[in-house]
Amino acid sequence: MFAERIQHLTSSIIREILAAAQQPGVISFAGGLPAAGSFPEPDWSVLPTYVKQYGMSEGEPELREAIAADARAKGIRCEANQVLVLSGSQQGLDLVSKLFIDPHSSVLVESPTYLAALQCFRLFQADCQGVPLKANGLDMATFESQVRDHKPRFAYLIPSFQNPSGTCYDQAARHETAAMLDKYGLPLLEDEPYCELDYDNVEKPPICSLLQRAPWIYQGSFSKILMPGLRVGYLIAHPSLIAPLVRLKQAADLHTNRPGQWLALDYLRSAEKPQRLARLQGFYRERRDAFAAALESEFADIAEWQVPSGGLFFWLKLKQVRDTRPLLQPALEAGVAFMPGEAFFAEEQPPLGYLRLNFSHTEPELMVEGLQRLRKVLESA
Ligand SMILES: Cc1ncc(COP(=O)(O)O)c(C=O)c1O
Repeated sequence: MFAERIQHLTSSIIREILAAAQQPGVISFAGGLPAAGSFPEPDWSVLPTYVKQYGMSEGEPELREAIAADARAKGIRCEANQVLVLSGSQQGLDLVSKLFIDPHSSVLVESPTYLAALQCFRLFQADCQGVPLKANGLDMATFESQVRDHKPRFAYLIPSFQNPSGTCYDQAARHETAAMLDKYGLPLLEDEPYCELDYDNVEKPPICSLLQRAPWIYQGSFSKILMPGLRVGYLIAHPSLIAPLVRLKQAADLHTNRPGQWLALDYLRSAEKPQRLARLQGFYRERRDAFAAALESEFADIAEWQVPSGGLFFWLKLKQVRDTRPLLQPALEAGVAFMPGEAFFAEEQPPLGYLRLNFSHTEPELMVEGLQRLRKVLESA
């Protein structure tokens, strides 16, 4: 009855855990939810009438101009006509998959990588090839051998405060990665929803700004800096890629919701933007530091981690290696939710013993209690 590709449609473990994690009394380190207290209270009564009408598939012209200007400030050489406003940056993964992936096409991904990207690429029947992440970037020798052996259609990278590992590529790694992409003319999909959630002021030029030859797509999102329920993100594409992406967007949903675009533009234009961003960074920095302290007191003898300079996650490696997936149900019963690390790997036999813990959503006074519950589950399993 269904199309053949539906056999490759996996359910996202994240969505399932999020439902369970919302039960009263559960302390959730599972999702990537921004803190509700950080959301602005927009005045919807001043919404202009024009946003109630159908709009352009590419997005609102003024918003595209503002996004392009922001991107140029980051070093990306682009014009507004290369910007496509998306219904959340997640939509970019769908459109780019449709553009590049045939059954059994290879896609190169970081190992570990964003779970919902794997879900999307696999729906289009991609064979995802992982390249291990090191502390400051990709393992370049494996990157090159994967490119030579599998001839991937594109590389999907999250260079800043990666989901799930929190890794931020250093400057040398960004240059090396760009040089490798150029060497093979391999298209880059650079996904940067966490770029602005930078708590230590890290230098992080977009990899696409360093490319000379390889085609590229850069994605950003208003989910983490404004509010995820808005569903507004964007991509900026190399001139050779933007026209088919706009047509794919048209075929998918005509255009992104206009009230949300209006609010995103209001945010970008606001004279208060730098202060708002600084407040948000300060809020999350405090939570990051509180979580680091809680981990140090509760987990130092059983796990290893690096304190992330941005983003929303700690990535833990248990000293005693074990599959963390069977721990999920007992953890939920004990009133704590986490993300098993195995789910984030493209490999059929993923490395075991990793956990992704979100620090942005939990009140600092509940962090120690949540970690104590999790530790008990680890000890009794
Ligand atoms: C790496 C990555 N890409 C894309 C997304 C999707 O974000 P959006 O809310 O803009 O669709 C997320 C959401 O958590 C993410 O972590």
